[in-house]
Amino acid sequence: MRPFFSILFSGLLLGSLAGENARAENKPQATPDFQKDVLPVFEEKCIRCHGAKRRDGKLDMRTLAALLEGGVTGPAIKPGNAKKSLLIELIHYKEMPPKKKGPFITSTELEILRHWINTMPDKS
Ligand code: HEC
Repeated sequence: MRPFFSILFSGLLLGSLAGENARAENKPQATPDFQKDVLPVFEEKCIRCHGAKRRDGKLDMRTLAALLEGGVTGPAIKPGNAKKSLLIELIHYKEMPPKKKGPFITSTELEILRHWINTMPDKS
């Protein structure tokens, strides 16, 4: 390739990479919905131990009300504050689901969960 074209080409490539980054930083955009965006993740990865059959740590994850009530340690989520939510903390430090059990929460799912809690109105 002649130098002019290779410079032009790498410029285009860098430009498109920068565009990708800008898009990645802006998502997720919409406010996640418990039934539609959150519950399916919990059903797949948490509810077999925190639902109808078992309620480990006395935590039921099937409804928002039950999550707000929480388990033996207290509320699993703190509306408006993902950082102070036990549920996020335990996923972040890979305590939940318990080690070696899986299936694990992906980083995209964790972002959705954080966003869901951060955009939740704090009624306390
Ligand atoms: C294989 C079973 C299992 C799975 C799957 C599981 N957990 Fe747990 N979870 C437990 C057990 C057991 C405890 C109690 C641990 C303890 O008291 O040390 C617990 C405790 C918790 C607690 C603390 C409850 C309290 O008040 O003390 C939270 C929050 C939690 N789990 C969230 C989750 C989330 C979120 C997922 C899905 C990503 C998940 N768990 C998946 C077994 C499980």
